[in-house]
Amino acid sequence: MLLKHIILRNFRNYIDCEVDFPQSVNLIVGGNAQGKTSLLEAIYFLCTAESHRATHDAELIRHHESGFYLKGTLRNGSNDVVLLEATKQTRGQFKLKKNGILQTKRSEWIGQFNAVFFSPESLTLVKGGPSERRRFLNLLISQINSEYLRNLQKYNLVLKQRNELLKQIRATSASITQLDAWNKLLIMHGTAVIVKRLEIFCQLRGYAIENYLKLAGAQENLALTYRSAVMPDDMLMHNSQTATVSPVTDPSGMDKVAKHFNISLNASREADLHRGTTSVGPHRDDFLIELESETRTGAAENYNEHNEGDSQETKTFREGARSYGSQGQQRTIALALKLAELELIRDSTGMDPIVLLDDVTSELDDRRTKYLLEVLQNLSAQTFITTTDAAPLVHYLKEPNVLTVENANVSCTVANSQSI
Ligand SMILES: Nc1ncnc2c1ncn2[C@@H]1O[C@H](COP(=O)(O)OP(=O)(O)O)[C@@H](O)[C@H]1O
Ligand SMILES: [Mg+2]
Repeated sequence: MLLKHIILRNFRNYIDCEVDFPQSVNLIVGGNAQGKTSLLEAIYFLCTAESHRATHDAELIRHHESGFYLKGTLRNGSNDVVLLEATKQTRGQFKLKKNGILQTKRSEWIGQFNAVFFSPESLTLVKGGPSERRRFLNLLISQINSEYLRNLQKYNLVLKQRNELLKQIRATSASITQLDAWNKLLIMHGTAVIVKRLEIFCQLRGYAIENYLKLAGAQENLALTYRSAVMPDDMLMHNSQTATVSPVTDPSGMDKVAKHFNISLNASREADLHRGTTSVGPHRDDFLIELESETRTGAAENYNEHNEGDSQETKTFREGARSYGSQGQQRTIALALKLAELELIRDSTGMDPIVLLDDVTSELDDRRTKYLLEVLQNLSAQTFITTTDAAPLVHYLKEPNVLTVENANVSCTVANSQSI
């Protein structure tokens, strides 16, 4: 999949800009606040129908204008030309068109043109709260499985209605017996969400661990564990343990998840009624990020002992990356997760997603930059890399198309390292 051309009108600081992308590696160079991130944001929006940074779509409209317009010309896997358009007026939802035909469902749009966005803010995957990690998993899985997004949307709708009802029961304007019908629906859609999440999470973890090892140079291992209040521990897998009951490999797994969901929902019923909100379910799940290192006995106290080694002196020391990891380790984990996302999308869809790297290399050391750019160029993915300083990157890139952004105008520069 290749983006050949883009038009941005009244999008962020862009008034009216057209850019050609004749090559697959694009280096976008410019000073601060010129429009580099906004250009990547426009590409990402065309692919996924959402911004990687805006909380409201209205933020994307150029100040004092009534709406934005984006148009992308792509070549898909079968080399057909596809025209994508996105518009948004100050009031109302954004509209998406493919080859001139209005697309009404976001669930049908997502997954057709995949993109992965790396930015310094990807660090929030590690440092941020659970909602950041859920958002990451939700968008990743939606891109490779449209049924997942449909289930998630239904789940969110039922959740909203259940929460409304909880408030009405609390105010004695509704009967508690009405709750059962919503519980059933919540469990049905929620179970489908959890089971798919676990399946994809398992694959993601494999890729992420491998990437971390290569990026960090085998000093410690990354450990990832899915966390859910509606699932018993033996159904949740982490690195060194294989789940005894896995909904992925065990056909009765779905029923087991549903059963436990039901138990947890009943157990939290009183608390939910008191708070007027649903306290358990996939909307509250998370995944734990830890670093594991082999340590000799006697050095520290809070060990997790694994009885698998031949020497009693070696123990595995595990600590939460969010609180204890160094900034460098956290950045490496975020990068390993993002690369895992890329590889997973590629393997599941058979197509390379568009890769957007926003100012990432400025925060990485040479070793990590080299590894990242090597991985990306070994894939045949189209890549857009922004930077304020092209010089350190140019010699890692094969024949990049170099573009300069200045005050929301994009121009092409000759692509060789001497000219930069
Ligand atoms: N809705 C908007 N309307 C007009 N300008 C905007 C809007 N949103 C952001 N900007 C401005 O656009 C400029 C470019 O932002 P950005 O693309 O993030 O720059 P860069 O990545 O090159 O540092 C900034 O000065 C920012 O304040
Ligand atoms: Mg920027």
